[in-house]
Amino acid sequence: MVCLGNICRSPMAEGIMRKLGEKKVEVDSAGTADYHIGFQPDKRMIATAKEHGVDISNLRARQFQSDDFDSFDLIFAMDSSNYQDIISLAKDDNDKQKVKMILDNSNVPDPYYGGDEGFEHVYQLLHEACQKILEDIE
Ligand code: 4NP
Repeated sequence: MVCLGNICRSPMAEGIMRKLGEKKVEVDSAGTADYHIGFQPDKRMIATAKEHGVDISNLRARQFQSDDFDSFDLIFAMDSSNYQDIISLAKDDNDKQKVKMILDNSNVPDPYYGGDEGFEHVYQLLHEACQKILEDIE
């Protein structure tokens, strides 16, 4: 699960997938940028997750790296900018084919500069998306 900072959208996606996947899938998250490496998720995202029974407080931000193509079968980008940044690190077509947009043809909006309702919206979008992913891979 990959977004820009790895403190809002992708940790939420990781937390939801861990909960829904019940240890059947190995999941991790990362950011394309290096601004927040080592940071806990945004407090507003932690609070929204908690309201839905998902604990993301122990996650710490890391940056996506090209080795991740070797570690994971599928890589989900939260928006088209993340998608392009991930693709630019791909070594070959096999790497590129692993990269998907988590929503079929739209972006998960970045909630960082908005109000609390943006975080709830992100949760709802990602919950539905993660359910679909699990249906598709099971
Ligand atoms: P994320 O949100 O990519 O969902 O983790 C953001 C977090 C921080 C910034 C941008 C987006 N930032 O510019 O600091």
